[in-house]
Amino acid sequence: MRLFPDAPRPLLDLSTGINPVAYPVPALPPELWARLPDPEAVAALEAAAALAWGVAAPATVVAAPGSQAIIGVLPHLLPPGRVVILSPTYDEHRRSWEDAGREVAAVASPDALAGAAIGVLCNPNNPDGRRLPPSDVPALADRMAEGGGILVVDEAFADPEDRVEPHPSLVRLRSFGKFHGLAGLRLGFAILPLPLAHRLRRVLGPWPVSGPAIAIGTAALRDAAWTRATRLRLDADAARLDRLLHRAGLRGAGVGGTPLFRLVHEPPGLWQHLGERGILVRRFAQGWLRFGLPGAQTEWTRLEAALVAAGLPVMRAAGARAEATQSSGADAQDNAYPAGADPAGADPRPCDADAPGLATPQPAPVEAPRFDAAFRDRLDLLFRWRRDVRRFRRDALASGTLDRLIATACLAPSVGLCQPWRFAVVADPARRDRIRAIFCASNAQAFGRYDGERAERYARLKLSGLEDAPVQFAVFADRATPDGHGLGRATMPEMAEYSVVTAIHTLWLAARAEGLGLGWVSILDPVQVAQALDLPPDWRLVGYFCLGYPEAHAAQPELERLEWERRRAWPEFVVQR
Ligand SMILES: Cc1cc2nc3c(=O)[nH]c(=O)nc-3n(C[C@H](O)[C@H](O)[C@H](O)COP(=O)(O)O)c2cc1C
Repeated sequence: MRLFPDAPRPLLDLSTGINPVAYPVPALPPELWARLPDPEAVAALEAAAALAWGVAAPATVVAAPGSQAIIGVLPHLLPPGRVVILSPTYDEHRRSWEDAGREVAAVASPDALAGAAIGVLCNPNNPDGRRLPPSDVPALADRMAEGGGILVVDEAFADPEDRVEPHPSLVRLRSFGKFHGLAGLRLGFAILPLPLAHRLRRVLGPWPVSGPAIAIGTAALRDAAWTRATRLRLDADAARLDRLLHRAGLRGAGVGGTPLFRLVHEPPGLWQHLGERGILVRRFAQGWLRFGLPGAQTEWTRLEAALVAAGLPVMRAAGARAEATQSSGADAQDNAYPAGADPAGADPRPCDADAPGLATPQPAPVEAPRFDAAFRDRLDLLFRWRRDVRRFRRDALASGTLDRLIATACLAPSVGLCQPWRFAVVADPARRDRIRAIFCASNAQAFGRYDGERAERYARLKLSGLEDAPVQFAVFADRATPDGHGLGRATMPEMAEYSVVTAIHTLWLAARAEGLGLGWVSILDPVQVAQALDLPPDWRLVGYFCLGYPEAHAAQPELERLEWERRRAWPEFVVQR
């Protein structure tokens, strides 16, 4: 990157709104590269898109090499006349119409589009996320149609589950690459009235989309389960990004966004500060910064560290450009329990938040899901069939699996909501060799503590899957995290580690629900592991984990089958006082 030549590599590019956890690309038959695409395959792709978005007539869906390509040809497709664009928005719309010699005006309200030959809006809008309710779009197209106009709605960042109703005066553009995280595939669609669809196909010419793009796009658009899971994950990740920006001091600086990006007012120097740390975000002339979503946990950690290092003052602007203010009032309340302070100590604070005088904001009522008896039975099975696994098949996991499991793990409870879990994904063969060596040495030491028949039994146990497991990661507790403001940790600092264990158990169950096995390796010298992985010394190792497909599933713990120990009946663990 020319702008930040000394920034650490690899750069973390958050300057776009592209899903960082891409659709797992299937293996492609070699002939897809060698042959011209088959028109029937294009039709199947368009039918898959139509089905995914609820379009009744697949012929009104036209595939193109990216929605940008369609933006470029629209002036040659749509009737002449004045173009009005709801602004500010993605600038390529203005450029395309102006390049074609059209008169273009920017307006600030959707109502101002009516009366023009062509009205253009992005929904949701890029970059501020302004969103017209989907049901308002056909009504706006109706109003444009009264004056003979056509409405163009760029839905590049639309929710893929938003349905598309046909309309004779409406052209919609949909992007494939953003939600599916495959922007390099260059695939986009127009959904438009049939006569315009015929003309667009002629303008794009034969073979508008490559064979690989057709195959991958068709598979992805048919994959409703991936779409659903991805929507949920993006919502969760966007909320996580909000929390991170908020904690970093960008409170009140939010302008808007979509699940794929967030827009904030830029505190002075933040773009430069992030760039110097190899983190690229998009800066806009209005003084806005757009943050795309980090993907892997290491990327989240890196962004968090860079934001914390920025030492931002708390932002409190609403609407106009935010102004930094001194922290006071509510901020002081947020920091009521600084790390290390004893909240039960000298300060005569009320015992709980229901004490008179402290108004606790109540959450807005939401409809909670109901879990029925059948679900509980399945959940019980999951608990019973979770196993510690040490024998793995070597098959790789589908891309995105580990990230998805870590995202689920991060739903776990944590003391003071301090979220002290830190995941270090270990893929480097040299580091894996080092961990195996540490395990062998620690295991030999452990063996030395037994003798006689117990030692013989110990020697028969297989206590790690480090040779075969395709995925390995270490999980640490960051006791130094400022998150949670020390709440609940003053008397028992080890609550940080306990919180991390809840996350591990959550991941363990989520993995088993996907048919995967997890093996916990604890026969390791924790200091040597932290050194081998080159991680901050104050991160405490909670466990090292092997993940993959188990060679076999078992109803009983391996240590029980090998008569090392037996499972006891639960009443043995209960005392009454
Ligand atoms: C904190 C913790 C550490 C563990 N460490 C190891 C280990 O180093 N090696 C191993 O083979 N299993 C390890 N296990 C797995 C246990 O042996 C296993 O959970 C137990 O035998 C019950 O079996 P199950 O998990 O299949 O129900 C560990 C489990 C926990 C909870």
